[in-house]
Amino acid sequence: MARRKKIYEGKAKTLFEGPEPGTIVQYFKDDATAFNAEKQDVIEGKGVLNNMLSEYFMQGLTQIGVPNHFIRRINMREQLVRACEIVPLEVIVRNFAAGSMAQRLGIEEGTQLPRPVVEYCLKDDKLGDPLVSEEHIAAFGWASQQDMDDILSLALRVNDFLSGVMFGVGIKLVDFKIEVGRVYEGDFMRLIVADEISPDSCRLWDMETGEKLDKDVFRRDLGSLTDAYSEVARRLGVMPKGATPMKPTLIN
Ligand code: TMP
Ligand code: ASP
Repeated sequence: MARRKKIYEGKAKTLFEGPEPGTIVQYFKDDATAFNAEKQDVIEGKGVLNNMLSEYFMQGLTQIGVPNHFIRRINMREQLVRACEIVPLEVIVRNFAAGSMAQRLGIEEGTQLPRPVVEYCLKDDKLGDPLVSEEHIAAFGWASQQDMDDILSLALRVNDFLSGVMFGVGIKLVDFKIEVGRVYEGDFMRLIVADEISPDSCRLWDMETGEKLDKDVFRRDLGSLTDAYSEVARRLGVMPKGATPMKPTLIN
């Protein structure tokens, strides 16, 4: 049996060559990192939960017509996705102040923003993913003006979709990050949502209690990350009843 080819290993996921040209297998690891990998741990079951949750969100986006890389889930830890050229930007959408924005601008966490605020960070771990302006993006050619129009539109559609889905299960979508990739179709290039959408890349607060159900639980040592992610999955009906995220890891 031939060993499949590893394309890239990131902090939370590993990418392998897919079975057909133009496809990639995305493997979700249990590794958790924060503060540009200064803080690290292995959280048993996190990869399974993020795989299932990202599938759920990406499939929902497909159903409402937001293009994304998801093709199908392969098993508890892997999904088949469309290969794309990742735009080197982290696209952040914020509905309420939190995290780095709250710190940078001295706004109390949880303050509602007058409108969704979209921010861009350059994907560069050595630099700690610095915040960049659209001027930087245009000047250094990371994305064109047309790309930026499309990226903004994708980001706001994902925001409306995710906010609504979360609202339906009593969770407030405070902010999130997406990544966007280019795919080529004949003479045309288009941008699609890529990477993952999971509690690793969102801030999710219980609507009633304000309890954090996202990676801040790990970043800020607030308790069990698997419990938090399992609660999100349970509310969305993503984890089958009675399933524990730990057990299925045995099949890989
Ligand atoms: P921030 O407030 O720390 O800038 O994070 C904004 C959003 O982006 C939050 O939902 C968490 C997410 N995020 C990532 O997905 N990856 C990262 O490396 C960082 C720093 C944040
Ligand atoms: N991406 C960050 C890291 O590199 C983690 C985070 O804060 O989300 O560790």
